[in-house]
Amino acid sequence: MDYLDNPIDFNNPRIASVFDEVSYWASHFAHLIFQHLELRPNLNVLDIGCGTGVPLFELAHIHGSTCQFTGVDIWQEALDRAALKLDVYGLTNVTLLKIDGNTLPFPDAHFDLIVSNLGVNNFDNPEAMLTQCARIAKRDARLVITTNIVGHMREFYEIYRQVLTDFGKPEYLERLAANEEHRSTRESLTRRLENADFRISKVIEDSFTLRYLDGRAFLHHWFIRLGFIDQWRKVVDKDDERAVFADLETRLNEYAQRHGELKLTVPMLYVEGIRAV
Ligand SMILES: C[S@@+](CC[C@H](N)C(=O)[O-])C[C@H]1O[C@@H](n2cnc3c(N)ncnc32)[C@H](O)[C@@H]1O
Repeated sequence: MDYLDNPIDFNNPRIASVFDEVSYWASHFAHLIFQHLELRPNLNVLDIGCGTGVPLFELAHIHGSTCQFTGVDIWQEALDRAALKLDVYGLTNVTLLKIDGNTLPFPDAHFDLIVSNLGVNNFDNPEAMLTQCARIAKRDARLVITTNIVGHMREFYEIYRQVLTDFGKPEYLERLAANEEHRSTRESLTRRLENADFRISKVIEDSFTLRYLDGRAFLHHWFIRLGFIDQWRKVVDKDDERAVFADLETRLNEYAQRHGELKLTVPMLYVEGIRAV
C-alpha cells in the first residue's frame, strides 16, 4: 500500500511538470465549456484556478485576438508551467497572475466572462469568492462554473460503505457520508450563484465513466492519489487505515472481477449565470 506511505505533494515541482496528464480528468469538464459556452468578440475574460492553463489557453485560442484573458491561481509551480506554455504558444492576449481567488484585486465591473473549471466551487469559502466575482463582473457578464457533483464515483462509495459497515465503527460511516455529501448538487450550486446576484442562464448535466481493470489499479492511479486518497483516508483513524484499505482494495478487486472491470460514474455540471444587477 505505497499509496498510503507516499502521499503526493502539490509543492513538489515535479508534480506541476506532469500536471497536464490531469487534464484527462479536467478535460471532461473543460469540454463542457468548449461545447456550451456561446462565443462572442471583444471580451475581457478571467479564469479562476487556471492551474497549468485549463481552460484558459484553449479559450484564448478559440476566441482569438479581440479578447483579453487573465488566469489566476495560488499554485506557483503550475503557473510556472503555464508561463512556459504561454511562451511556447506565443499568445499575446493572456496574462497569468498569482492571486488568491478570495481576494481578486480587480476593479469593479471589469470582466465580461468569468470561468472556473473544477475551481471556485471546490475552494474554501466559495460564497465570499462568488461575491467578489459579482463585484468584478460587468453588468450582463457571464459566470461559468463546471464541477463534479454529489453522486461522484458512487460505485466506489458503495463499496467503501460496505467495508466500513463491517468494520463496525459508526463514526467512520458518518465521516464517509460527510465526505460524499460535501459536493454540490445542481440545486445547491445554482442557489449559490443566485445568492451572489447571478441569474441562471444555462445548466448542463452530463457524466463520464472512469474505468479500471481492478481496485489495485484504481488506488494506485497517480491522479486518484493526488486528488482523492487523502480525503478517503481521513474517514478512518490512522491505526485502522491499513486494515480498512486492505479490505477496500480486496472488495474493489472482487467487484471488478464480477463485472469485468471497475467502472466509476462521474456526474458533471456546467452552470452559467448572468450578472443580474
Ligand atoms: C482541480 S484544479 C483545476 C485546475 C484547472 N482549472 C484545470 O481544469 O486543470 C483546482 C485549481 O484551483 C487552484 N486553487 C485552489 N484554491 C485557490 C484559491 N483560493 N485561489 C485561486 N486558485 C486556487 C489550485 O491551485 C488548482 O490549480
